[in-house]
Amino acid sequence: MEVKPFYWKGDYLLLLDQRKLPREEIWLELRTYEDVAKAIKDMAVRGAPAIGCTAAYGFVLGIKLQRENPEEVYETLKNTRPTAYNLFWALERMMKALRENRDLEEEAKSIEKEDYEANKKMGEYGSQLIPKGAKILTHCNTGALATAGWGTALGVIRSTHYAGKDIFVWVDETRPYLQGSRLTAWELLKEGIPHKIITDSTTGFLMRKGLVDLVIVGADRITARGDVANKIGTYSLAVLCKEHGIPFYVAAPTSTIDPDIEKGEDIVIEERSAKEVKSCGDCLIAPEESDALHIAFDVTPANLISAIITEKGVFKPYEILNALKG
Ligand code: MRU
Repeated sequence: MEVKPFYWKGDYLLLLDQRKLPREEIWLELRTYEDVAKAIKDMAVRGAPAIGCTAAYGFVLGIKLQRENPEEVYETLKNTRPTAYNLFWALERMMKALRENRDLEEEAKSIEKEDYEANKKMGEYGSQLIPKGAKILTHCNTGALATAGWGTALGVIRSTHYAGKDIFVWVDETRPYLQGSRLTAWELLKEGIPHKIITDSTTGFLMRKGLVDLVIVGADRITARGDVANKIGTYSLAVLCKEHGIPFYVAAPTSTIDPDIEKGEDIVIEERSAKEVKSCGDCLIAPEESDALHIAFDVTPANLISAIITEKGVFKPYEILNALKG
């Protein structure tokens, strides 16, 4: 059965709490826009497209059901996570629908539907790039859980698997939130896609041994010149790919492209609590007195990216703005 991280129920949003996976499948009932903002900030829901979709439903709750001030609702939802462009894109769309007196619930549903369809399209385009029997390495979680369903990079992997190409997936843990080992492995297991979890630091060794044919990741924001912000550790993988002559692909819907930012250096990078680095789940794994740095994303420059897969086709990073045309 296909995984879905949230369901709109007409007067509340039912959300799978991703902090508890894979041990528990707990569903949260979010009844206010403040509940939705908190769920995004605390990462009960995560992944750029899923954040955008849930924020859109949060907007519906705030305006249509709670009858709050639109600016207040917009600002609260916007000030949750700074890097994922889909959040800002979705909220702008909702504000526009409000200004044009259109049905907000229908607009949020369209955002969700379009995201799912974009993922299926990316799957079709991306699977054509993947050779039969490929050993694929992926980072973080870019699957159904991170989107309205199917997934971006993991969606391409899913489509390639269903195309009967006999692939194998290396899943890196993705410290500290463990999106790889907790969430990606959970999704792959459900689908019966062969995979193995590795620590983040195993990747270079595997590449040197010739055990990785390509890397595919998602994106939180893509700039006009094709630089890509994604989960911390992505840049290191791209550098490793260059050293080993391995293709490095990014899969993202056009709603992740920020045409107003030229250079990756200008993307706001989220910094999260040091506590999340010093603990694993509820368990402290470092001296309490030591300080830690928790940068949540990094930027991979366009020149390290082989191609960007979108629902509009496959683009060289420097021509990514063409994906927004037509
Ligand atoms: O901190 P997260 O879990 O929200 O980060 C998620 C990622 O970095 C994903 O790769 C990105 O959002 C694309 S998800 C389809």
